[in-house]
Amino acid sequence: MSIQKIGILTGGGDCPGLNAVIRAVVTQAERSDIEVIGVRGGWRGFLENDTIDLTRNVTRGILHVGGTILGTTRVNPFQVKGGPERVDAAFKAWGLDGLIAVGGEGTLSLANEMYKRGNPVVGVPKTIDNDLDGTDVTFGFDTAVGIATDAIDRLRTTAEAHERVMVVEVMGRHAGWIAMHAGLAGGADVIVIPEHPTSIHEICEVIHMRRAEGKVFSLVVVAEGAMLKPDKDSEAQLVLANDAPDAFGRPRLGGVGPYIARAIEDETGIESRFTVLGHVQRGGSPSARDRVLALRFGVRAMQLAQEGKFGRMVSLRGDAIVDLPLSEATAQRKVVDQSWLDLAEVFTGV
Ligand code: F6P
Repeated sequence: MSIQKIGILTGGGDCPGLNAVIRAVVTQAERSDIEVIGVRGGWRGFLENDTIDLTRNVTRGILHVGGTILGTTRVNPFQVKGGPERVDAAFKAWGLDGLIAVGGEGTLSLANEMYKRGNPVVGVPKTIDNDLDGTDVTFGFDTAVGIATDAIDRLRTTAEAHERVMVVEVMGRHAGWIAMHAGLAGGADVIVIPEHPTSIHEICEVIHMRRAEGKVFSLVVVAEGAMLKPDKDSEAQLVLANDAPDAFGRPRLGGVGPYIARAIEDETGIESRFTVLGHVQRGGSPSARDRVLALRFGVRAMQLAQEGKFGRMVSLRGDAIVDLPLSEATAQRKVVDQSWLDLAEVFTGV
């Protein structure tokens, strides 16, 4: 059966490349005269009947633009009374033959739940954190790493001029992929990630070692979700500047960078500064690589809907776009493994 109408939503934190996916879906759909509606604000749009018609005219000129023209929220229909039933009803009322849900772990898990309720859903993975195990890489990651590396390059010259320790906090909730890649690319002395809890003392030892070798400045790159051990033998903990949880009830991350900078200065007596890159990493234009990946994901997701292959997520494996069940795609998180830690140790010592 050929499909006539498809919906698309973007959910969770935004990510450079979302608009490229939307453009790809609409362009592929129009080739077969399939109507596309955009559901605004992620799953919220289903609950509030908030949609816009998407045509090539609407999606022209958005390829290089960050954010998402559909808006995004972390609204979870399962936390709203009668929410899932309202989503089912909207599928019917809008006459949707399929929905393309673009999101990270949270949005894709919800997509899978909606699919299990009998709704035809295809998933597209996104997150700058690159922590989805169902795909080799997510779009947005390359852009974030590029921004973080550029920042480290800039911080290097001022660190060197003042012979300071410069601590850069990057995003990365459960996985330190951005910190690992930007840290390696930017020549960091220390990379601190959630997968490898570290103590302030261990960080300071590396700083002392490098200074003894003759390097007059230090670059420490830390992922916001890094676990710190107050000292070598204590249990690792998150360092948070803000106690309020986010919309998914998760800790609102951020604050470990300033904490580390202060602690390094206290222990070593070396002047230290911090920079928290925060949402700068998520905003603005996607890199060329992310645009192309997003276009490939968007076209393939639309094709899956046309082929009636629902309950699946598009994915990059090697250089091929493949697809796998949504249930598998969201089952496990992709974290930085030992081989990366071994590589980092060659350059950083931690
Ligand atoms: O999930 C991606 C991410 O960028 C995380 O690294 C970060 O913790 C989170 O989003 C912050 O998002 P927000 O400020 O939108 O809650």
